[in-house]
Amino acid sequence: MNIQDIKNRFGIIGNSSLLERAIDIATQVAPTDLSVLITGESGTGKEVFPKIIHQLSARKHGPYIAVNCGAIPEGTIDSELFGHEKGSFTGANEARKGYFEVADGGTIFMDEVAEMPLATQARLLRVLETGEFIKVGSSKTLKTNVRVVAATNVNLQDAISKGKFREDLYYRLNTVPIIVPSLRERKDDIPLLFRKFAADFASKYRMPSVKLDTEAENLLVNYYWQGNVRQLKNTTEQISIIEKTRDISGDVLQKYLPENASSKLPMLFKGENTGELSERDLLYKVLFDMRKDVGDLKRIVFGLLQGTAEGTNPLTATMGRSKGEFAHDKQDTSEMEKRENSNLPLVIRPSTDLPSEHIHAHEEVQEPLSIEDKEIEMIKRALEKYKGRRNRAAKELGISERTLYRKITRYGLEE
Ligand SMILES: Nc1ncnc2c1ncn2[C@@H]1O[C@H](COP(=O)(O)OP(=O)(O)O)[C@@H](O)[C@H]1O
Ligand SMILES: [Mg+2]
Repeated sequence: MNIQDIKNRFGIIGNSSLLERAIDIATQVAPTDLSVLITGESGTGKEVFPKIIHQLSARKHGPYIAVNCGAIPEGTIDSELFGHEKGSFTGANEARKGYFEVADGGTIFMDEVAEMPLATQARLLRVLETGEFIKVGSSKTLKTNVRVVAATNVNLQDAISKGKFREDLYYRLNTVPIIVPSLRERKDDIPLLFRKFAADFASKYRMPSVKLDTEAENLLVNYYWQGNVRQLKNTTEQISIIEKTRDISGDVLQKYLPENASSKLPMLFKGENTGELSERDLLYKVLFDMRKDVGDLKRIVFGLLQGTAEGTNPLTATMGRSKGEFAHDKQDTSEMEKRENSNLPLVIRPSTDLPSEHIHAHEEVQEPLSIEDKEIEMIKRALEKYKGRRNRAAKELGISERTLYRKITRYGLEE
């Protein structure tokens, strides 16, 4: 069977050499009885590999059991995997066979193997080395013939150094490593995957396929895709369902690509680049966001305190006082509601998690000059980049259009 046949048979999309190498190793190792460890970020498509290995092995008519080690509570995992004797613990009214007994002659896929408790790791090592195991509450050694394929998105070397994963088990499992590449390492596959998913959802929901224009496709290809293929698939589904138009522009797509901190703020670097922002600029930007939020919070708290002192309803007092200041926040709130109602991904900015002890109600909001200069410079640059289009510039800066407007007036940046 060549690689293309395997891709067709298992529904794998993509032509990247890293992906093909992973498939190739899986086919080579399948007929042996060696343990295989599959590593790769979450959502890269690890789960198809143990299936390939099982199907192309002499065990293909034997059982195939997939176990998610992260989903089984620590208290029951030994009994799930190795079985237990009647009366071995409270509630063990019947003896039970474990997966290693049931899968005799077949393959067990141990997903999220890094989540396995250390005591269970010891049992697993034993069964891998000798084929022997003991049921919980028993003293009799049993034998089984199971091939183990394990997967993880955790760096096991790290887990070993933290004492969470046994080194000997790591070497035993890692006889043959398969590394599934992230989407960032196979950008050429992104449009292919999008078209495939768009076509799938189109037939599922009986509507024409969504299509991307050139700008949108660039955006898609250069996005960070922290959740890899899973995230791309979900995003494609959201767009297919929510958007009325089938021709998707960059602006529309952008709404579905969260720019949260953990996604490494990709759009700052990978948009339609004219003047690229440096890492330092990025830090400044995060600082601005935080400073703005602290300022807003201070004003709210200050308003609340004053309102209480004056014996008025603190909430209306605050709202009254800061009407001008906070008009944009109202806008943001309705935007949030809109997004929530429409199931759009909510853009989480790194600035929202401020510890409350940093708020002193009576402190003045001071603007250190150098930061102010930097802010002016960034606003100018964003305006230049988007040729004066304030909505785009505000988006890039992570502030509302209204706030940008205020800053432009304050710093005298009108053209
Ligand atoms: N190369 C691919 N072609 C088509 N679908 C894929 C591909 N890789 C992943 N998928 C899909 O992406 C989703 C996540 O894959 P999965 O194997 O569950 O990821 P994980 O690596 O987190 O176990 C699944 O719906 C899977 O079908
Ligand atoms: Mg998985």
